[in-house]
Amino acid sequence: MTNETNYDTIFGKIAVEQGLCTDQELQRSLGEMESRLKFNPVILKDLMVELGYITETQAERLKTNIKMSKVAAHQIPGYKILGKLGAGAMAIVYKAKQLSLNRTVAIKVLPKRFSENPEYVERFYKEGQAAGKLNHNNIVQAFDVGEAGGYHYFVMEYVQGKTLYDDLSTGTIFTEKNALDIIIQVAHALAHAHNCGIIHRDVKPKNIMINTEGVVKLADMGLARETSDIKAAQTEAGRAYGTPYYIAPEQIRGQIDIDGRADIYSLGATFFHMVTGQVPFMADDPSNVMRKHLNEELTPPDHINTELSAGTSEIIEVMMAKRKEDRYENIEELLTDLQAVRDGQPPFRAHKRFDVAALEKLEDGQAIEEQENEQPYKNETIIHYRIAILILSAVLVAFFLVIVLLIFSS
Ligand SMILES: Nc1ncnc2c1ncn2[C@@H]1O[C@H](COP(=O)(O)OP(=O)(O)OP(=O)(O)O)[C@@H](O)[C@H]1O
Ligand SMILES: [Mg+2]
Repeated sequence: MTNETNYDTIFGKIAVEQGLCTDQELQRSLGEMESRLKFNPVILKDLMVELGYITETQAERLKTNIKMSKVAAHQIPGYKILGKLGAGAMAIVYKAKQLSLNRTVAIKVLPKRFSENPEYVERFYKEGQAAGKLNHNNIVQAFDVGEAGGYHYFVMEYVQGKTLYDDLSTGTIFTEKNALDIIIQVAHALAHAHNCGIIHRDVKPKNIMINTEGVVKLADMGLARETSDIKAAQTEAGRAYGTPYYIAPEQIRGQIDIDGRADIYSLGATFFHMVTGQVPFMADDPSNVMRKHLNEELTPPDHINTELSAGTSEIIEVMMAKRKEDRYENIEELLTDLQAVRDGQPPFRAHKRFDVAALEKLEDGQAIEEQENEQPYKNETIIHYRIAILILSAVLVAFFLVIVLLIFSS
């Protein structure tokens, strides 16, 4: 359940997200904090420094950033900050009251460095306006964008509930039926966005929320990314931006013509995680995860979870094809298969894609080559045999004629 979070939780979360310490180090610190609670209470920041997990300078810088973001949040006109909801690698999200309408909202306050980049600020407003035009029950509604105290912020619908990541991080493996139900709702959200010309570019469990009524809400729709995906992932070795478990190969390559099929790949990777309990490509550092997205063959999800239907497994494989041409062409095509499998039918589109992919493989390579190599050899041999038979027959006829001539002449 998403609740207002206290200072220590935010501090720990950002420290991990920004790669200052590992999750295990955070967990150890929290355990130690708990054991000292009665006789020698200590705050997380000081304890992590004491245990040597972060340096004094890192701790102070992080503390200042959190404080400044809070100060800025309190300066946003028209809203009263009620508490913190969470933090990601880049931002802190607050729960607030929009005074004019007396409604609860969520406000995402971006780090100051974003505001110092005019190119980013321009995209922030442009994409914010585009997101504001979207209206769908499965999309976290964008309300407002602005700047206060040197910080840019994004006001959106408040979702009371949890993120998909909250479940996955505890090792939950979703039943096929539950997973399909959630993925179909996200697919509806994406269909609406794509039809309005917006590509999400960051579909992942942390951006999929489920409210207390079970309605799925896709978050961060249209929120401008800092730089190109690859730059963000590579310059910071991926750590400050979360490990790229769900990113599409073409985004890793830094291609600029990203289309809806990148979202289909990321949704496929999320789907994979939900039904197998593991991310599709695991490695000890972000660049190796990315390398696997580019080159390593996907283990079919029904090889990991043998209870999974072949249909769902096939859909995920098509969603996660390395070449976007081999994926579903658009979300509508994907939705047709998802709904078919949910209703106990086979995924016809995936079958067709598998057939096309197999044909293309044949055109490109091996299987046909083998046949072609075999065939000319056989043809040549047959021709040689035929010529030999012809010559032999001619010799026999000539021999026969000579004998006949000899008989008649004698
Ligand atoms: N609209 C919202 N309503 C309620 N809680 C929200 C909302 N948006 C975000 N949150 C909470 O705030 C947290 C931080 O969100 P944020 O988008 O900054 O980072 P993230 O998506 O978790 O990770 P990353 O920084 O890797 O993108 C989320 O995990 C969620 O718990
Ligand atoms: Mg998010």
